[in-house]
Amino acid sequence: MSSSLSNNRTAVNIAPDYAALCAPIAARIADLARAKPDCVLGLATGSSPLGVYNLLARHHAESSLDFSRVTCFNLDEYYPMAWDSPHSYHEFMRENLFSRINCGHWHVPDGASRSAEVIAESCRAYEDSIRAAGGIDLQLLGIGRSGHIGFNEPGSAVDSRTRLVALHPITREDAAPSFSGLSNVPTEAITMGIGTILEAREIILMAHGPSKAQIIAAALEGPVTDQMPASLLRGHKAVTWYLDAGAAEGLTK
Ligand code: GLP
Repeated sequence: MSSSLSNNRTAVNIAPDYAALCAPIAARIADLARAKPDCVLGLATGSSPLGVYNLLARHHAESSLDFSRVTCFNLDEYYPMAWDSPHSYHEFMRENLFSRINCGHWHVPDGASRSAEVIAESCRAYEDSIRAAGGIDLQLLGIGRSGHIGFNEPGSAVDSRTRLVALHPITREDAAPSFSGLSNVPTEAITMGIGTILEAREIILMAHGPSKAQIIAAALEGPVTDQMPASLLRGHKAVTWYLDAGAAEGLTK
């Protein structure tokens, strides 16, 4: 059983545990892929979506869920980062999702080390590719403890686009274990902008565990401000927040 609260813009679903959190999200994505076989998905990395990706892989294997005409765009990539590095988000997505389903086209921002002009051009090209694919139908998001979505850290403008950004100290700290130490964590990343994310027709933000409780409460109940990037989602017309009991424990309303 999960409970639901909603106003005109923001719906919040609270599930008792991680499995119950992931199931309706995977079901929503599967429904979309069946209803619109050439849909465009915006996808996220991090531990949060792993259960959803496992379920999508299972739907593909057991129920022939077809992704052959689906196009996917990932939110972000570390910079500098070779696409085939074990630390890259490209590799994360290949390993956790795309090697397990038959997705026709998938894109991750290119973190290869290049001049500022070439990076800016490649960010523009990423935006162009999203537009050329018809725009994102459904964007899946996690949330960082800095309040970031993608790698849009506090101070990211509501109309920001895909670009090179500096990572917040909390974000680097959280990434340190997977890089075997803070000094190995890149200081920069390439991320879709808040403006890019808000253009998606539908947005799902998922968060689990008590370590996200404070940031979820601030994003949902605090002021809407670019100092708390996830709060800017409250201006979108079709966003659903999927939380487990731990992530929801700071909510008062
Ligand atoms: C990284 C990603 C974000 C993700 C966040 C949370 O910083 N760039 O897109 O939302 O991690 O990660 P987790 O789901 O592991 O808490």
